[in-house]
Amino acid sequence: MSQHSSSTREIPKVAAVPNHVAIIMDGNGRWARKRFLPRVAGHKRGVETVREIIRACIHRGISYLTLFAFSSENWRRPADEVSFLMQLFLRALEEEIARLHENRIRFRAIGDLSRFDHRLVDLIHRAEALTAGHTRLTLTVAANYGGRWDILQAMNRLAQARPERAGQVSEDDLAPYLALSYAPEPDLFIRTGGEQRISNFLLWQLAYTELHFTDLLWPEFDANALDVAIASYQRRERRFGRTSEQLSGLPQAGGEA
Ligand code: IPE
Ligand code: IPE
Ligand code: MG
Repeated sequence: MSQHSSSTREIPKVAAVPNHVAIIMDGNGRWARKRFLPRVAGHKRGVETVREIIRACIHRGISYLTLFAFSSENWRRPADEVSFLMQLFLRALEEEIARLHENRIRFRAIGDLSRFDHRLVDLIHRAEALTAGHTRLTLTVAANYGGRWDILQAMNRLAQARPERAGQVSEDDLAPYLALSYAPEPDLFIRTGGEQRISNFLLWQLAYTELHFTDLLWPEFDANALDVAIASYQRRERRFGRTSEQLSGLPQAGGEA
């Protein structure tokens, strides 16, 4: 059993400040191109935005921040850009590991790490172990992550562990095997860079997440832009399948789920 409930099975508690924010950090390449810089300069600048957004999330009382850093499809990029990104992850994590710990941030990585350099994998495991006891903010970095990969790896691990469930798998059976099983489902999804698509991010977990798209490129995104996203989230009516009348407490036929 997963420690967090499923939005399709139970109506979650909704708070004014989203408890879990998931972000597709897009637009680094275009940010650099606009400045006649190589694409990778945008990735470098994007790391600074990550630092600012982590700080802002802590100040706003957000408990979970999940960042899409590298998709399972990003291997299709030119080899030199991919290797730059790997070096950048390695360096950024080396530099930040102590600060994450000091700031009581729990670090987690999700995705298929088997294709990564062993130095990066070791560092990820060290950061996870060092910060495992913290609860102030859980920072998850999705690296070589894909939503379809996640569902399939969960199904495959479940099938191995509990073959007797074949043909009758339930959400509760699957939940503990999904990569983000330690976190509640995201309340707010943000994508920078102007595209309005999911790009194979958290397909399962975004079932009832509120979606916010901004044209700001990731290096331009900042604490103010996060507040704009949160304000937009606060204007939404999260119905989880119910009617608006049910939410405003008007007389209703039929029972509450
Ligand atoms: C997002 O920025 C970062 C990664 C996918 C690693 P992009 O590199 O996709 O930037 P654009 O979309 O080309 O501007
Ligand atoms: C999504 O951005 C993945 C990450 C931000 C890590 P992409 O730039 O790869 O997405 P597409 O290709 O435009 O859909
Ligand atoms: Mg992009």
